[in-house]
Amino acid sequence: MDKIRIVGGRKLAGRVEIGGAKNAVLPAMAASLLTDETLVLNNVPAVWDVGTMRRLLAELGVRVEQPSRRSLSLSSPSVRSFEAPYELVKTMRASVLVLGPLLARRGRARVSLPGGCSIGARPIDFHVAALEKLGAEVRLEHGFVEAVTDGLRGTEIYFDNVTVTGTENILMAASLARGVTLLQNCAQEPEVIDLAELLNRMGARIEGAGTRTIRVEGVERLQGTEHSVIPDRIEAGTYLTAAALIGEEIEISHCLPSHMTAMVDKLEELGSRMELGETSIRIAGADPIRAANLRTLPHPGFPTDMQAQLMVLLTQADGTSLVTETIFENRFMHVSELNRMGANIQLDGHTAVVKGPTRLSGAKVMATDLRASACLVLAGLVAEGTTFIDRVYHLDRGYEHIEEKLAGIGADIERLK
Ligand code: EPU
Repeated sequence: MDKIRIVGGRKLAGRVEIGGAKNAVLPAMAASLLTDETLVLNNVPAVWDVGTMRRLLAELGVRVEQPSRRSLSLSSPSVRSFEAPYELVKTMRASVLVLGPLLARRGRARVSLPGGCSIGARPIDFHVAALEKLGAEVRLEHGFVEAVTDGLRGTEIYFDNVTVTGTENILMAASLARGVTLLQNCAQEPEVIDLAELLNRMGARIEGAGTRTIRVEGVERLQGTEHSVIPDRIEAGTYLTAAALIGEEIEISHCLPSHMTAMVDKLEELGSRMELGETSIRIAGADPIRAANLRTLPHPGFPTDMQAQLMVLLTQADGTSLVTETIFENRFMHVSELNRMGANIQLDGHTAVVKGPTRLSGAKVMATDLRASACLVLAGLVAEGTTFIDRVYHLDRGYEHIEEKLAGIGADIERLK
């Protein structure tokens, strides 16, 4: 298994180019199941989750080709299977995104229940309840969600809690339902808007994506199209945090600052200076780094996917910061690893109390999930001495060539095979 070795303390400077958003490309790929024509996606990131979704779609009968390094072409003239197997769903929960499209196009789907994961229980009850309201018959059996329908019908759906993939799944299903579906308390994430734009380009009639209420007028069929995936705001935020932590002057290019307001504001509050362009951000290291409180919230609030990375910065801030996680119940697995490196963080329920500044020292640490791994990389960059990060496959799921991108701006980092 690969490891990453980092020698800390090197100042970072230069330019980092951001890839397409993992959490936008996955639903976009699943949308290929909604049409018998070809869907071409551009700005596809080179991350493992894309490979997992490719394998899943191939099992379902989708022909996936890669015409160029950053493009995928997906065609599914016929859907061969209705089943998302446990082996794939357990490695990537976003596999559940095939549920809505399979049901809408073929009237049948069998998707393994994902079960808990390292950041929380993560059930899919809101997806299931919404599909039932659209007219599907759903049974939970043998660890699978089995859904059938003789045709989905538009209805009104209220999500009890904001859910990103839940909103996406139902958007795809409702696009081929008979009549109008009104979705309330929807996720407003940029990735939801990107999917709605793609679906509209395929012939769907969706209004209101990006607000809490989305109206979908069902159509009989959807067609192929070409679409460029939005930039990954979490990848961009991770490099911004690296820059704030130990950067001189860094340019983050190919990103969309308009998707990152809460992150940018928080980094400014912590002492970073930034210059925002339309598709780039220039940032200089924060000096001094100030303490601040942080609360994760659904978009446009501060993203839970950046909580772990920001916490590293707070270990270097002057004073006490409170970090409250409101989205996932167990997303503090990185805390004990950061403390092993010398941080002073105490957990009090859903809040982490971070006292800074603390001197971090390199250690052997273990990644537990994607964003916790990114946090350990950032800690390694600022720590004294050498850090070895184990279980790098978590990192590869959602960051493309992170060691190359960081080495490109001066980090002393390498992957050990
Ligand atoms: N929830 C339920 N029932 C449901 C659905 C969600 O109780 O049916 C709960 C979850 O357990 C969680 C909260 O609602 O406590 C929000 O979960 P959500 O459904 O929004 O999460 P998700 O759609 O499974 C996506 C991203 C995550 C990101 C979250 C929150 C994708 C593929 N994944 O997950 O990304 O953290 O939204 O923004 O879009 C990551 O990239 O590292 C990652 C985990």
